Amino acid sequence: MRTLFLLLSVFANLAAAGENQIVLKDGQGKNLVISQCAMCHSLDYITMHANILNRAGWEKTVGKMINIMGAPINNADKQVIINYLARNYGK
Ligand code: HEC
Repeated sequence: MRTLFLLLSVFANLAAAGENQIVLKDGQGKNLVISQCAMCHSLDYITMHANILNRAGWEKTVGKMINIMGAPINNADKQVIINYLARNYGK
């Protein structure tokens, strides 16, 4: 029983590790996005919306993360993040 539990937690850890392996495209602002956008959810929220959101859509989404979800992102960083997302993951 104990072994089974240990095995299960190993698998859970592997699954969690896989989730962190999302690699974002290189570009100015990438590190900011990784540090600011991955504290509440996986970065696949971003890659899942690639080519769906245009610049205005990313602006709205980042605004929602800040105003509604409470992401602690200042205005200067917000602009860099929006530029990065629009350039690399925009429609
Ligand atoms: C304070 C926590 C928090 C931070 C920081 C955060 N998010 Fe989110 N985000 C959420 C939550 C909670 C949801 C799920 C909301 C829902 O289901 O409506 C979400 C959902 C999303 C979605 C799915 C679409 C949507 O509108 O719900 C995208 C895309 C997204 N976040 C992108 C980002 C980006 C880009 C950043 C960095 C600028 C970011 N998030 C930072 C909490 C956060």
